[in-house]
Amino acid sequence: MLERIKQMMAEVEALKATSAEEAEALRVKYLSKKGDITALMNDFRSVPAELKKQVGMAINELKNRATERINELKASFASVDADTDDIDITRTAYPVELGTRHPLTIVRNEIVDIFSRLGFSLAEGPEVEDDWHVFSSMNFPDDHPARDMQDTFFVESHPDIILRTHTSSVQARIMERQQPPIRVICPGRVYRNEAISARAHCFFHQVEGLYIDKDVSFTDLKQVLLLFAKEMFGEDTQIRLRPSYFPFTEPSAEMDVSCTICGGKGCSMCKGSGWLEILGCGMVHPNVLEANGIDSTIYKGYAFGMGIERIANLKYQVKDLRLFSENDVRFLREFEAAN
Ligand code: DAH
Repeated sequence: MLERIKQMMAEVEALKATSAEEAEALRVKYLSKKGDITALMNDFRSVPAELKKQVGMAINELKNRATERINELKASFASVDADTDDIDITRTAYPVELGTRHPLTIVRNEIVDIFSRLGFSLAEGPEVEDDWHVFSSMNFPDDHPARDMQDTFFVESHPDIILRTHTSSVQARIMERQQPPIRVICPGRVYRNEAISARAHCFFHQVEGLYIDKDVSFTDLKQVLLLFAKEMFGEDTQIRLRPSYFPFTEPSAEMDVSCTICGGKGCSMCKGSGWLEILGCGMVHPNVLEANGIDSTIYKGYAFGMGIERIANLKYQVKDLRLFSENDVRFLREFEAAN
């Protein structure tokens, strides 16, 4: 009898199962009413009295070990249930909601994506800037009205430190540390001291483009902008360039696209003209190249700048600029599908 118990103990130690069902089958085989170990216990009656103590202890040990081993096997297949420590009972019962991309981020990414396909790389500069990068190096005369307190936020104790009023400052940042060829696209936030209304805000977003190399011409600029307009607003979009003035470009132009609503026939969006203004551009002024350490007798360049809110308005017809910064989820959720 003792020999059988020993043998069965070895068997129990080596038990294996590949599923919960197999583990249960082992329980039935050894421990159920008709199981092998139960049968041993029934045989116990016939054990001679002088061996009863020793055999009894051995059977008990075998039974305990078999129960333990089979439970271990079962536990290894059991799925996590409520009384294990893996459940975080402090977690909210509501599903975690995913946010949506901000409409300005969607439009920014689209603009950057279009230009990166044309070989432009991404560059960024600081929002807190100095007068040199925002104005002086960009060929603004000392008495230019844009420097006026009306437009620019100054840091009170440091009149030279300002919040940038345009992303053109990033042009200067790039040129001072890199020689041509330069081909960058620079998105970012800008600040102007304006009264907040549906049509103006004290901060908004721009994207600046800069291309400098030998033999760059105005036609290169026009072609790139036409391609951008078609990618952004659709294949049928047309552009027109009107002469304009910016201190940092010469010649300068403003670009219109054919109205995104009426396609050029005239409607309330384009005030009957068929055209919508979207950006400023031009050939980089030689003074700007020289001020930033680039030889203007060898290199030429073009630049352009556009407002992201403006483009977003044309795409999504957002009537009030303030919606972009109020973080009202009812507004932000509208753009879920546009991701
Ligand atoms: N910086 C101009 C603005 O804020 C936009 C602009 C116009 C940028 C012409 C340019 C440019 O690079 O060539 O209104």
